[in-house]
Amino acid sequence: MTEQEAIAAIAGHLDRPVVLVGMMGAGKTYLGKVLARSLGVEFYDSDSLVEERAGASIADIFAKEGETAFRVLEAGAIASLLSEPPAVISTGGGAVTNPETLTAIKDRAYSIWVEASLPDMLERVSRNKRRPLIRDAADPEAVLSGLLAKRQDLYAQADIHVMNRNDDGNRALDDILTGLAKALKIS
Ligand code: S3P
Repeated sequence: MTEQEAIAAIAGHLDRPVVLVGMMGAGKTYLGKVLARSLGVEFYDSDSLVEERAGASIADIFAKEGETAFRVLEAGAIASLLSEPPAVISTGGGAVTNPETLTAIKDRAYSIWVEASLPDMLERVSRNKRRPLIRDAADPEAVLSGLLAKRQDLYAQADIHVMNRNDDGNRALDDILTGLAKALKIS
């Protein structure tokens, strides 16, 4: 089977959304967009839907209403996206800390943990200042490694685990496609 045939087979068999979970700066949004384009399905980002519904940026929601309020909006956004026809959905890094969201993702989607090394994540998060949990941190590395320690076991519950290295081209995308083909029992 050529790569194109394999991608077409995955797209043809996709009966549930594909949900990317993992830390901020792991590269979920970029990979999700490329994956959605390859499969010919819609791409959604839970952070973008929260911002659209609230009419405010994530940073403003955190500042004005607090993280707990953001988490409620995030859970609602992901629940809505899981009800859409199969698409690729990138979730915010903390989405899996809501037990109902984690269960819904595991039950109703093919879940993918996108992991990246601490230096790669730091490099990516330093490129933009929109993430409230990290942008004002005196020691961003300590914040990221603290969050990862708390969340690792949750991310590890995903169906598929890929490592996304900054210098590894399309490797992570290929690994996602291989994982999906296996999950969909396409040989
Ligand atoms: C968060 C990650 C962010 C965003 C918010 C909180 C987190 O999303 O939801 O800033 O708790 O890890 P990304 O993972 O897309 O950066």
